[in-house]
Amino acid sequence: MNNDMKWAALDEAMVASSRKTIKELFAEDPGRAEKFTVEAAGWMLDYSKNRIDKSVMKALVKMAEASDLKEEIEKMFTGAKINVTENRAVLHTALRNCDKDAKVLVDGKDVIPEVRKVLDAMGEFSDSVRKGQWKGYTGKKIKYIVNIGIGGSDLGPVMANIALTPYAKRNLKFYFVSNVDSTHLAEALREVKAQETLFIVASKTFTTQETMSNAEAARAWLIEKLGSKDAVAKHFVAVSTAADEVSAFGIDVKNMFGFWDWVGGRYSLPSAIGLSLMIAIGRKNYDKMLKGYWKMDKHFRTAKFEKNMPVILALLGILYSNGYGAESYCVLPYDQYLSRFPAYLQQMDMESNGKSVDRDGNEVEYATGPIEWGEPGTNGQHAFYQLIHQGTRLIPCDFIGCSKTHNPISDLHDKLMANFFAQTEALAFGKTADECRAEGVPEELVAFKTFEGNRPTNTLLTDQLTPETFGALVALYEHKVFVQGIIWNIYSFDQWGVQLGKVLAKGVLSDLVAEKPSMKHDSSTNQLIARYRKAIGR
Ligand code: F6P
Repeated sequence: MNNDMKWAALDEAMVASSRKTIKELFAEDPGRAEKFTVEAAGWMLDYSKNRIDKSVMKALVKMAEASDLKEEIEKMFTGAKINVTENRAVLHTALRNCDKDAKVLVDGKDVIPEVRKVLDAMGEFSDSVRKGQWKGYTGKKIKYIVNIGIGGSDLGPVMANIALTPYAKRNLKFYFVSNVDSTHLAEALREVKAQETLFIVASKTFTTQETMSNAEAARAWLIEKLGSKDAVAKHFVAVSTAADEVSAFGIDVKNMFGFWDWVGGRYSLPSAIGLSLMIAIGRKNYDKMLKGYWKMDKHFRTAKFEKNMPVILALLGILYSNGYGAESYCVLPYDQYLSRFPAYLQQMDMESNGKSVDRDGNEVEYATGPIEWGEPGTNGQHAFYQLIHQGTRLIPCDFIGCSKTHNPISDLHDKLMANFFAQTEALAFGKTADECRAEGVPEELVAFKTFEGNRPTNTLLTDQLTPETFGALVALYEHKVFVQGIIWNIYSFDQWGVQLGKVLAKGVLSDLVAEKPSMKHDSSTNQLIARYRKAIGR
């Protein structure tokens, strides 16, 4: 890695990028849209509405080259232990490698046969639930599936379950319980009948406080409702890497679907963590989703950086974060089925790249992971777009949409898409004071009705949201996040930042419940604990 060259390339990109506005760039080149569009795995990325020209992109690609990106991509795909602080390989790509002769070695052992064995076991199990062959303790078919997990063991399954609703078996009802707030579990349990409920306890470690507490409470509820501990075997399955913990919990390991330490939680949707999704959409559709992931993986691994969709998204993100100082970026899906996609991306991006020391353990002198946020269009338009259009902050946006809807009703989809395209147009080109005047806007209102424009957007468009294009979309962002982590020279696959809060919560919990609390905290925390205890009469 040549750090000097990397940051010099960004300076070069910034000089070229600041020269002209997006409006000027479009005016001087009628072929601009085509030049700055790439296709991959069923998706079109039009990135022409950015503050870029060929020289900017060339300089940005130099950044990637100076970061040895090509070599780093190969290391990930071939099982090198790039998650250094946890001494692990990073192989979510092996989970969806559809090449029939695939071989991926970890510590000299090919992991592909195990991956396929688990997929087959998931397929058999989900088939039996879908066909009503898997019977509960009282002999009834399963109708309700409750996934208990948090973080990567929840956000992916929830998001995908909503995204692929059109492919789901509608007579099965799915619930996702993550929060240790008892309300979350209670509301799910209100909706289901114990005899017809399957609980999937999804946890990589099987030690996570929230998940294990909810799982224990759900097990107690089931035993109470069905009157016997023997019912657990018919109503609980586990998804985990920790067989010992699973059997200690009381789930037979033959009802456990495994995965491996080389699958990070936030990258685990295509592992057994996707079991609830496979039950919903069936093995065939699940395989199509894996194929979509794999198509994007292959594109990422082989396409030249200039044509590489994840690399382009990553480089543009770095231009705005490190060049223009943008603090966040917005993801705006114009498809209701992708309503939880921004929330899912928050973990993927912010838990991966929210780091402030580099790979040598030195504090970084530049911004790393941005804040990711967003809501489905057009809801966002009537909430926070005002700030994106006319506020003082630069917020680059990714617009995501599909040409065909699964639910045609009158002209609603045309209207949705008209808004989708119009927003990127408005953000890029704005409206000048003279244009306002020409429209007859009174002089005293001109300043308020002027839009500066020059606000960058990417547009991702696919024909339809299918399992395949969905898988490709998730992989696109996974790889984007990877590329940025490499350029920032940080470790994207650990998450030490979540530990401290977990440890302190244990100490606080003992003070909340103890007869004589230690109260060894700061004055604010002590005050809060005291107030809580008083309120509940403890
Ligand atoms: O939030 C920290 C974290 O470790 C995430 O990375 C992970 O997805 C989540 O907790 C849940 O972990 P587990 O699947 O082990 O319960």
